[in-house]
Amino acid sequence: MRKLKPHTAASFPATRMRRTRAADWSRRLTRESTLSIDDLLWPIFLTAGKNTRSPIASMPGVDRLSVDLAVEAAREASDLGIPVIALFPATDPTLKSDDGQEALNPDNLVCRAVRGIKKAVPGIGVLCDVALDPYTSHGHDGLIEGERIVNDATLEVLAKQALVQVEAGCDIIAPSDMMDGRVGAIRTALEAAGHQDTLIMAYAAKYASGFYGPFRDALGSKAALKGDKRTYQMDPGNGQEAMREVALDIAEGADMVMVKPGMPYLDIVARVKDAFGLPTFVYQVSGEYAMLAAAAGNGWLDRDKVVMESLIAFKRAGADGVLTYFALEVARKLRSR
Ligand code: PBG
Repeated sequence: MRKLKPHTAASFPATRMRRTRAADWSRRLTRESTLSIDDLLWPIFLTAGKNTRSPIASMPGVDRLSVDLAVEAAREASDLGIPVIALFPATDPTLKSDDGQEALNPDNLVCRAVRGIKKAVPGIGVLCDVALDPYTSHGHDGLIEGERIVNDATLEVLAKQALVQVEAGCDIIAPSDMMDGRVGAIRTALEAAGHQDTLIMAYAAKYASGFYGPFRDALGSKAALKGDKRTYQMDPGNGQEAMREVALDIAEGADMVMVKPGMPYLDIVARVKDAFGLPTFVYQVSGEYAMLAAAAGNGWLDRDKVVMESLIAFKRAGADGVLTYFALEVARKLRSR
């Protein structure tokens, strides 16, 4: 975009900024950023069983879905034109362990869902997180030794987890664990196994955020979580550090990067897109969903308006797409226009 120096613009009354705002057609004509269905990635939660949906108290309107219902959801998303569905398993507590071994079970909940969706709805992209928190009894994304989350031993498990998910049919591997070197470890493992076309979308700048609370309710990892994730997720005060994180993930083999959470970190989205120019995504996380849904549910905010406004803000900041729990309702809305 060419930038106009302020003093080269004519001044009032030659310039009247309201001219282009006067009619709907001229507002549409001059709009700089738009939201389309192609910009949406839809995260859903999985639960065991059949024909089962269980509500998440802190995310009104979002349910955990059994695999058969997840397949139906993927079909609707695909029919609407949503490019990607992201899968998050709420793992039965009896399957959780200190070392999170269930992550490597080729028949675990997320792998069953990937296979079901890719078979029934091959046209939709499937994204899987790589991190151990759905599977660990302590709720951390990595292996622990005492109080410490150990980096290098975790990398081996993450690489195996990624392979298991890719072998189930997953298209996009999204490491969300924030261990150092994980993108490289996963890329090396994928290449060695002949999975050269698997995309990696790195949670490159992922902050230690209070906005993940409802997600941890959804996965049942909150009650379990010992301590917090500040020794591996980023400090909210840091911006330059996000640039280093992104640069490292690109060097290690990421095809796309993500910033997370979304709305409190729009400056990071803009800086990342400006500096690196590669496909850049943003995650409007569970707490952001909860805030908007709760306020709208109370009649304090107009749901349609604030949802659209929050999503267009990501596009304006430079994001190529948004992971959002509102994806399905937004796609329906955009379709009906
Ligand atoms: C797990 C993971 C988290 C989210 C996505 N992957 C939670 C966390 O890091 O504790 C958060 C998503 C959301 O809040 O919607 N590594």
